Amino acid sequence: MMRVPLIAGNWKMNTTVAEAVRLVREMLPALDPIRGVEKLVCPPFVSLAPVADIIRGSSIQLGAQNMHHMDRGAYTGEVSPLMLTGLCQYVIIGHSERRQFFGDTSEVVNRKLGAALQHGLRPILCVGENLRENDVGITEAVVATQLRTALKGLGATSAMVVAYEPLWAIGTGKAASGEQAARTIEIIRAILGQLWGGDSATSVRMLYGGSVTGANITEFVSQPGIDGALVGGASLKAADFVSIASQTAAIKKRT
Ligand code: PGA
Repeated sequence: MMRVPLIAGNWKMNTTVAEAVRLVREMLPALDPIRGVEKLVCPPFVSLAPVADIIRGSSIQLGAQNMHHMDRGAYTGEVSPLMLTGLCQYVIIGHSERRQFFGDTSEVVNRKLGAALQHGLRPILCVGENLRENDVGITEAVVATQLRTALKGLGATSAMVVAYEPLWAIGTGKAASGEQAARTIEIIRAILGQLWGGDSATSVRMLYGGSVTGANITEFVSQPGIDGALVGGASLKAADFVSIASQTAAIKKRT
């Protein structure tokens, strides 16, 4: 089963519209020609349309960082899947910062996933344990519960991507080791296999996220079960993001 590697940049609440435009223009010439790996940028909502204009016709794809699950209505300040369809190909769902600061429980994540898939958006579902959970050795149980709740009632689909992001590694400069990440991702794939069947689970791409840089990306993508990365801080620097994508392409070509 051939899984196309994916390198996704989550810009979080960084970049003004002018800065987002500058950043994507800076990346474009070196990022566009990289083959064998999907390259995705996820700028803030207000920069989606301007960035879409710049990357149109290129090999770079666009994603949102979140969305509401309803199509429309009296939900002041929210952005719906209908608004994203046609503009983005991907949407990040259940990022730990959404879970931590904005009340995105796994039930909320479940509704958002269903809505994204229904509208033809490819969701990147984020799961991961916090430091305490890791310390006491319940990583497997935590990600299993997150997955089972988030995927409740949803049929098997290779449109979904899962990002394993241990909270203790996000924005801390302390990435997991490649072996650690691969081990948990193997567990995630096994849980998906129980829910969806082995063949479906094999076709779902799995990313690692948490302090990924140009200096450590090879450790992750040289693991056969890890199909790419969800990159925060390093995706805000054009040269770093390009380097992460090109190293991934080179390694996955060999394996
Ligand atoms: P980081 O963020 O690369 O800055 O650790 C990753 C993420 O939150 O997706």
